[in-house]
Amino acid sequence: MSLENKSNEEIRSSGMKDTDLVEEHVRLNEIKHEPTSGFLHTPLIFVFVFGCLIFICSIQLAHTTNDFQLHPPLEIVELSPEEQETRRFERKIKSGGKIFAARCASCHQANGLGIAGQYPPLDGSKWVTSDPGIITNIILKGLKGEIVVKGQKYGTSAAVNMAAVQIDDREIANVVTYVRQAWGNEASEVFEDEISSVRSASSDQQEQWTGDQLQSMFPSAFSN
Ligand code: HEC
Repeated sequence: MSLENKSNEEIRSSGMKDTDLVEEHVRLNEIKHEPTSGFLHTPLIFVFVFGCLIFICSIQLAHTTNDFQLHPPLEIVELSPEEQETRRFERKIKSGGKIFAARCASCHQANGLGIAGQYPPLDGSKWVTSDPGIITNIILKGLKGEIVVKGQKYGTSAAVNMAAVQIDDREIANVVTYVRQAWGNEASEVFEDEISSVRSASSDQQEQWTGDQLQSMFPSAFSN
């Protein structure tokens, strides 16, 4: 007799002895199904599939989010050499413009036209657009005495002269480049090492330059 599918009532009324019951339990225990079999493999497959998904997503994320950086650099685009050069030059002109506004415009005016009879114009001046050594020397040491700019005399009174402007070689290169290209001027860019050599060549000069001195140092600049 088997106990399978039998109610307690039926077992009791079947007249089974205790030993029969024990034997029957042992038999049932032996044929008992492994409860986990069948659904053990399904979660394993899910774990594997999800693992793969997370792995693939991570790679994708790493590619699209700058290696997980929370604050990626603003510029992640590679600039071509030409673009880098344009940026460099724009920064230089911007810096030069600021230096001009702070250190020169009070006398030579923002429009570079100066003030008639007092401050000479930088727009269209040979002192600016010819040899860059001239304007560099003027910034380094200042200028005094009579000069002629665009047919007009300046520096006729000793009280009106220009003192040396205390800025470093890089700043001079920036402001000189700016002035040489501002308004109607179209002269070449000037570099820091050129300023440095003008500075060392003029180290003996203690006083402000005079217009005559500069004209004899740069004769070809004033020839036409
Ligand atoms: C305080 C007023 C003043 C400031 C500031 C000043 N200058 Fe001058 N600058 C003068 C005067 C005045 C002369 C003429 C001096 C003379 O004739 O003796 C002059 C002459 C010049 C000249 C030669 C003449 C010409 O017009 O081309 C240049 C170039 C020049 N300055 C550039 C500059 C630059 C660049 C700066 C700023 C970094 C500057 N100056 C700042 C007053 C000033």
